[in-house]
Amino acid sequence: MTYNGLLHKYGPLLDLPAHTRIVSLLEGNTPLIPANNLAHQLGGGFDLFIKYEGLNPTGSFKDRGMTAAVSEALGRGATTVICASTGNTAASAAAYAARAGLRCIVLIPQGKVAAGKLAGAIAYGAQVIQIDGSFDDALTMVVEITNKHPICLVNSINPYRIEGQKTSAFEICDVLEAAPDWLCLPVGNAGNITSCWAGFKQYNESKSTGLPQVLGVQAAGSAPLVVGHPIEKPETVATAIRIGKPARGEQALQAAEESKGRIIAATDEQILHMQKMLASLEGIWVEPASAAGLAGLGIEIESGKLNVKGKRVVAICTGHGLKDPDIITKDMQKPNLVPPKLEALEEIILSQS
Ligand code: F0G
Repeated sequence: MTYNGLLHKYGPLLDLPAHTRIVSLLEGNTPLIPANNLAHQLGGGFDLFIKYEGLNPTGSFKDRGMTAAVSEALGRGATTVICASTGNTAASAAAYAARAGLRCIVLIPQGKVAAGKLAGAIAYGAQVIQIDGSFDDALTMVVEITNKHPICLVNSINPYRIEGQKTSAFEICDVLEAAPDWLCLPVGNAGNITSCWAGFKQYNESKSTGLPQVLGVQAAGSAPLVVGHPIEKPETVATAIRIGKPARGEQALQAAEESKGRIIAATDEQILHMQKMLASLEGIWVEPASAAGLAGLGIEIESGKLNVKGKRVVAICTGHGLKDPDIITKDMQKPNLVPPKLEALEEIILSQS
């Protein structure tokens, strides 16, 4: 069967206005990859699956919500969309706006956006504006300007973003034929945890798929939902989730509580360690923020707070590793340089076997 994108596949399940005009890059339909080697490394005895969202058209899960938000904006007659972003939302908004023929403006925190994301936003033709401040400052500004001018906000405050992002929960249930026991995912501005939980609840109501317990994971230097108050100067190597005042923080806490799950923090070291394990044990390279959910899973299993024996666990890995290559290359040893001679190659390969 031909795949025509998320709004064709799941449109009837999404609360979108009749004026919606579909703008799609055939997003979604991402693989749910068994990760047996990593599960074994984390103690074994459970089934672990990676929902590899980096395989969306612009390299992150944001395309799910963006197809919905831009389709609604276009149908309504909007001519300009705007967002604040740590990078992925910017690239996604820029791509869908380009396809729809809309102007796109993105506000990013100065110097804290990974190269692959900024390059994407520029390539797709967005007007990129750096803010001498944080993501939270940028978000406040786009809310203010869209209250004053006829510009469409496509951050996840936009309800259609949430509608579109529910589809990752639908896809997981469709493949597993039920909800997993645990769902772990990174939490930044808290749109994804909010929409996933809404998606699982909706499927459970109509198809009795059951509900997962949700483990949301923030970076330790940017963990307002763990410490219980906004963070003025959030810091983390996982720049995608460097957010001190999540727009949907209340809903994230509610999702964790309703699901009998929790929101915890992982240190930068734990996040980067998990990023490397996932890549080297499973061949799945994700950007640092995307490894946070799994890092949290590892922390909870190791401390004995989470018993996953016999359970099915899904980790949503939100963005591709190529978004942020610098994090890998900045500390790497330069590859060996050898002359173009067989003996030199033999010497270097055989001495390491
Ligand atoms: N993972 C990645 C790779 C992200 O880019 C984001 C958010 C998250 C996780 C967290 O998702 O905000 O729904 O809780 N990135 C936003 C952006 C903030 O601007 O691209 P969330």
